[in-house]
Amino acid sequence: MRRRDNIVLIGFMGSGKSRVGKALADAMQMEYLDLDDRIEKIQGKKIARIFKDEGRGAFRRMEFEELRALEKTNHTVVATGGGIVVLRENHKPLRDLGPVIWLKARAETIMHRIGNTDKRPLFPKENPAESVRKMLETRDPLYRQVADGIIETDDLPIDVVVLRVIKFLDAWEG
Ligand code: S3P
Repeated sequence: MRRRDNIVLIGFMGSGKSRVGKALADAMQMEYLDLDDRIEKIQGKKIARIFKDEGRGAFRRMEFEELRALEKTNHTVVATGGGIVVLRENHKPLRDLGPVIWLKARAETIMHRIGNTDKRPLFPKENPAESVRKMLETRDPLYRQVADGIIETDDLPIDVVVLRVIKFLDAWEG
């Protein structure tokens, strides 16, 4: 029997994890926790800075450790960074926390949502459309492996996505 006292959101950058996560936590009267924010707080620097100073590998290790530190967390909607599924060692701990929902978005939607931000170190500056498509190709199978449920977020307002997540969870038998 899987735990169901947390809800875990996974998905690519710009798929809506933070915004949906906050609204979902409100609707379910749960706490909200953003793993990227937690890493920034503990490290005392922004993710972009961590990538610049210490590199991607170091960030992935921090992500790995912070995910494990959530073991005792409950009653919480956990939003994760888009790359958390890249490390296969993260798959089980993600699923151990509770039902995992993949917020899925098309490359065009992602480009539209995050195309002009410099907050995301992995968002490619050169030929972004092609790079996003390539990253999705590698990551989509990994999101699919970890997810219990898939909710498409393209063209949908946040409250509709939230309702779909709640509907999925009502039927989820874990
Ligand atoms: C990353 C996504 C980011 C953040 C880091 C790496 C990725 O999180 O964890 O920049 O590899 O896709 P968001 O998905 O919240 O932007």
